[in-house]
Amino acid sequence: MIVTTHIGAKAGDLAETVLMPGDPYRAKWAAETFLEDAVCVNEVRGMLGFTGTWKGHRVSIQGSGMGMPSLSIYANELIRDFGAKTLIRIGSCGAMQQNVAIRDVILAMTASTISTPSTHIFQSLNFAPCADYGLLNAAARAAGERDVATHIGGIYSSDVFYSEHPDLDKEMTRHGVLAVEMEAAELYTVAARYGCRALAVLTVSDHLQTGEALPPEDRERSFGDMVEIALEAAFS
Ligand code: HPA
Repeated sequence: MIVTTHIGAKAGDLAETVLMPGDPYRAKWAAETFLEDAVCVNEVRGMLGFTGTWKGHRVSIQGSGMGMPSLSIYANELIRDFGAKTLIRIGSCGAMQQNVAIRDVILAMTASTISTPSTHIFQSLNFAPCADYGLLNAAARAAGERDVATHIGGIYSSDVFYSEHPDLDKEMTRHGVLAVEMEAAELYTVAARYGCRALAVLTVSDHLQTGEALPPEDRERSFGDMVEIALEAAFS
């Protein structure tokens, strides 16, 4: 029986550990590249999801879509209806610091935000969405064993890709925010609500200050590091 509105899978079709790229085609690529016996478990709205195994561990890779409202739908259904316990966002981000370069990996310790779909719950409280420490620590170790520059710290989860707030961007740079993306703060908040583990492992695809961007032909290799770091962290 199909159990949710947006994930057209049966109970048990998804694993307790779920990697969540924004792009459903990246979910397909990651499942075909890194998982064994991957089967497609969701095609609703083209938001592809796959379940297979990695080194004998059952794992799903489910697209989240872009932005926190979309991710929130999938994270809620994965946790509440499919029993997900560990959710790791794998995605791209825009660097906000000069010492962060294209292709670098960012492990998001915290995710600042102006609003998430959960904002209203907290009334006037500034809730601080943060990663699961065990996952973060394991990802730091996995990244340390690879030949990839890695930064660990705070990021910004924005509601917009095309920012109209250069002053706000400058303040975040001044306060050490490493990079901007559009999903992690809501993932961390929903996971916290249900006692689940969450982390965002990101690859820098563009740089806000230099205007540099990752060439399309380099994307696969760079994103591969991020997927392997996420898998190693999940099962360490
Ligand atoms: N802004 C927001 N989200 C992003 C960016 C960006 O520059 N790059 C990748 N995801």
